[in-house]
Amino acid sequence: MSLMQPPDGPRTMIDLPVMPAASCEGVVVANVPVSSGLLQLVVEFDSPVTFQPGQFAMLNLAGDSALVFSRPFSIYEAKDRRMSFLYRVVGRGTRALNALEPGAALVFLGPLGRPFPQPDPDQPVVLIAGGVGLPPLAAWLDRQAGRHAGEIDAFFGARDGGDVPWDLLGDRWNISLDSLKDLPAGRQGWQGLVTDLVASRQDLGNRKDRMVLACGPTPLLKAASRLASARGWTCWLSLEEHMGCGYGVCKGCVVPVHDASGGPGHVRNATCCTEGPVFNAADLAWQD
Ligand SMILES: Cc1cc2nc3c(=O)[nH]c(=O)nc-3n(C[C@H](O)[C@H](O)[C@H](O)COP(=O)(O)OP(=O)(O)OC[C@H]3O[C@@H](n4cnc5c(N)ncnc54)[C@H](O)[C@@H]3O)c2cc1C
Ligand code: FES
Repeated sequence: MSLMQPPDGPRTMIDLPVMPAASCEGVVVANVPVSSGLLQLVVEFDSPVTFQPGQFAMLNLAGDSALVFSRPFSIYEAKDRRMSFLYRVVGRGTRALNALEPGAALVFLGPLGRPFPQPDPDQPVVLIAGGVGLPPLAAWLDRQAGRHAGEIDAFFGARDGGDVPWDLLGDRWNISLDSLKDLPAGRQGWQGLVTDLVASRQDLGNRKDRMVLACGPTPLLKAASRLASARGWTCWLSLEEHMGCGYGVCKGCVVPVHDASGGPGHVRNATCCTEGPVFNAADLAWQD
């Protein structure tokens, strides 16, 4: 693997080391549906691979079929030489991924970006995932066994019962559904927005030191941020911006952030792929 260090942004939101990214080819070993809307892509590399939850990779087809721009995907799992991703088909790039059969080559650049922070060992945590925001938070939860002693409440919002990858999730997640259609027998789902489900849990209001980690579409992130702010909780959001390069060069992924160093009220553009994709919600200068 040739090692490539993504350039540093002008200011980092999370003071965690970013591991060197590698650009290399992998081989698809599985590409299968795990729910009505999500597929799991498993890729094998020549050497062991690792990542921190919240980091992502830029994926592309190999050879003549390569897309002009690689596409960003959160890393869901890494075991020995295999890494896996959960994705939804939404356009040309994800359709091309979906067509890859075992044995096909895939071009990988990663792991990229800054991961979710690790809370204090006893700090209570709320995870809020929506749709394809699930992989980084499922990865984060998977790493906490024997590491985090505080309570963790995990919430996942999906379109309907068929859209939930029940077998991957186990029994740790509270599920909210836009529609109760296709809910398998014996499974529980709450109808409504995932952030409303979190808000309805009065018991979570008992601690001010809770940390929210959220990933999903922008309306979900804004709602999670508002909820956290109202309860006095810290909140970290993983943004799903459109990305061209993934390592800080094209500036296609910038997001406005507050920058006290430029004076009161100063806002600057942060490069989401290198300074994020995980940001402290308090740093984001979103317009409602
Ligand atoms: C850090 C990061 C992590 C991501 N992780 C995952 C993941 O784990 N699984 C997954 O399925 N997707 C993930 N995405 C989104 C994924 O990158 C896009 O769905 C993909 O690039 C779409 O490519 P396409 O060519 O199929 O669609 P396009 O033809 O480019 O677009 C099809 C439709 O999807 C919309 N779209 C494209 N890119 C995005 C985006 N980044 N955010 C919101 N809407 C978009 C377009 O506006 C358009 O409506 C992630 C994005 C980022 C930035
Ligand atoms: S995607 Fe190119 S600078 Fe972020």
